[in-house]
Amino acid sequence: MFKNIIVRKPGKSLVDGIASADLGKPDYEKALKQHEAYIEALKKCGVEVTVLEADERYPDSCFVEDPAVVTKKCAIITNPGASSRKGEQVEIKEVLKKFYDEKNIEEIKNPGTIEGGDVMMVGDHFYVGLSARTNEGGARQFIDILKKYGYDGTMVPLEKVLHLKTGLAYLENNNLLVAGEFVDNPVFKDFNRIIIDENEAYSANCIWVNGTVIVPAGYEKAKKAIEELGYKILIVDTSEYRKVDGGLSCLSLRF
Ligand code: GLY
Repeated sequence: MFKNIIVRKPGKSLVDGIASADLGKPDYEKALKQHEAYIEALKKCGVEVTVLEADERYPDSCFVEDPAVVTKKCAIITNPGASSRKGEQVEIKEVLKKFYDEKNIEEIKNPGTIEGGDVMMVGDHFYVGLSARTNEGGARQFIDILKKYGYDGTMVPLEKVLHLKTGLAYLENNNLLVAGEFVDNPVFKDFNRIIIDENEAYSANCIWVNGTVIVPAGYEKAKKAIEELGYKILIVDTSEYRKVDGGLSCLSLRF
């Protein structure tokens, strides 16, 4: 169960966030409203939500999942692979000092890079995507740190997607949403895989929060499949974040 969630409000600079899809610029006012709705949904899941102020220096800094990975025993400050995101980790480290003993705050060092969107926690095991943002050196450092705390990890080379959790969401109880390149990946064969339709691929980025699954608005097949598994569902519209390659998981740190 999660007790704490950290989010960061989007800044006006969100419009300059890194974008690979041709979906236009985010509407800032709409993005702010969607962020408020996201926070309300999280609060309904029984967690304490810490809301950080926007940081205009970093257009993607509302995607607070990327500069750190938070576990029950330690926080691992990442080293973002995207040049415009370098520095976000310094800010989040200060915040995490309020939640973790300094001796349990670890850091990934150059030339290793890793972003939290490439890390999926499944109990004591962590899957780490090797992507354009996360290199093997970063993933190796990360897994070595995990081992100090009794955890372990598996590297998963990515082919197309930005981050590992762009196409996967672990919903606990062995249930895993899988989309695109992960559908046939043997690494995930022992999970109860819920295959997300190609035309709803964005909805593979859901989050499980204390028994509830938060699902992006507009993906009816995914919603129905998750409901059929017996989860309570909350819907949040993330249309403005999608325009800059962001989704539900990217918008929070959950621990
Ligand atoms: N725009 C989100 C990211 O690229 O990191």
